[in-house]
Amino acid sequence: MNIDILLGLQWGDEGKGKIVDAISPDYDIIARFQGGPNAGHSLEFNNVKHVLHLIPSGIFHPEKINIIGNGVVIDPAVFKKETESLGLSADELIRRLIISARANLILPGHRILDAAYEHSKGQTKIGSTLKGIGPAYTDKVARNGLRAGEILRKDFRDLYDQHMKLHLAILKGYDFSFDLKEYEAGWFEGIELMKKFRIINTEYLINDLISKGKKLLAEGAQGTMLDVDFGSYPFVTSSNTISAGACTGLGISPKKIGEVLGIFKAYCTRVGSGPFPTELNDHTGNILREKGHEFGSTTGRPRRCGWLDLPALKYAIMIDGVTRLFITKSDVMSGFDTIKVCVSYKSGGKECHEIPFDNSPVEPVFMEMDGWKENISGIREYKDLPENLKKYIGFVEKETGLPITMVSVGPDREETIFRK
Ligand code: GDP
Ligand code: IMO
Ligand code: MG
Repeated sequence: MNIDILLGLQWGDEGKGKIVDAISPDYDIIARFQGGPNAGHSLEFNNVKHVLHLIPSGIFHPEKINIIGNGVVIDPAVFKKETESLGLSADELIRRLIISARANLILPGHRILDAAYEHSKGQTKIGSTLKGIGPAYTDKVARNGLRAGEILRKDFRDLYDQHMKLHLAILKGYDFSFDLKEYEAGWFEGIELMKKFRIINTEYLINDLISKGKKLLAEGAQGTMLDVDFGSYPFVTSSNTISAGACTGLGISPKKIGEVLGIFKAYCTRVGSGPFPTELNDHTGNILREKGHEFGSTTGRPRRCGWLDLPALKYAIMIDGVTRLFITKSDVMSGFDTIKVCVSYKSGGKECHEIPFDNSPVEPVFMEMDGWKENISGIREYKDLPENLKKYIGFVEKETGLPITMVSVGPDREETIFRK
């Protein structure tokens, strides 16, 4: 099996970017399969931090092919800004990165609609990143989308104008002011830049390379608990963030999937609205936020923090068919006398084993464990980790029935412990 999928098992920001960068040497191709610039994937090496939104996290490895797959929605303006922030020449990027002709575009109207929809929701806002994700996927499914391959058409400007008219007509129904020109200038500059890249039917390239023995890592965005079907709808994103999304978002058969690598934080975070049973609205939550620098990579918003939620983790593992677990940010948990982990839920006084489809409130049932105090960021061998952290890891392995084969102890590429 030459295709592995790496994805987040919580509400996003599990550390996917860091891990994809760290394991990229094991693969030939790194491909994003869903989401868009709502993602913010951070990675660090040589004391420099990079944040990627659309570009796969294998981009800093010169010999790897990076693909933006058909399931991704691309905002050309964000794409341009991002390419300029990487410290790589345009020629080098063009060599390393390929875009699917079938990937839908986020139009300026989508961003405005995203803001107008959120504005109209009053108290029930989703907490969207306002990058135009929902409206772009809406147009895709409604068969009104514009796709990357179309930017090369002579009549592209006419096509754009037709779409914009449609968006303006919808916006008439909303009491929302906006400045279209402000968005359009950067967007068309981005279109010109995109024209220099290879925009092809990437599904042929991927399947051809796989048949020749090349290895592909599919990089998930967001997290399983933000999936449009299985997350806490409507407080979700607009794509399938689960492992099945890799098949539709790249054009690969499920028969070709090997490992499903599930990433989770040692605790939980969530940005935006929606249920979060283990949330800590107290001093402990503040400690996790400050120590873990839990502020959004895309929007800078403070992330809500809480203890690890095992029922949610097990749900994600079930939906994704995870084969191996990776744990991140255990270094942030250093310093507590005791830590908690949610082992089940209660609803109406009764034990509850399922995640409710309608977001009805559940009460977490916690188990308390001894914490660890050591600074672990310099540790590179599993055996040297504090005993209480190893007990925590062992407990999660027992509960989930899966091995935790990687422990991340800091944001840098090097701060990673692989277990044989
Ligand atoms: P992603 O969206 O899943 O790629 O995650 P983000 O990049 O949005 O958020 C994860 C944050 O934690 C980033 O600032 C990373 O640099 C940082 N990070 C990743 N792994 C670790 C870790 O093991 N320890 C610490 N302290 N920080 C980490
Ligand atoms: P990465 O890939 C964390 C959240 C938003 C909001 C909801 C819908 O970095 O893990 P959207 O912009 O998709 O309409 O927002 O989903 N969200 C994320 N939260 N990490 C992300 O991506 C996210 N992408 C979207 O905060 O609650
Ligand atoms: Mg992120």
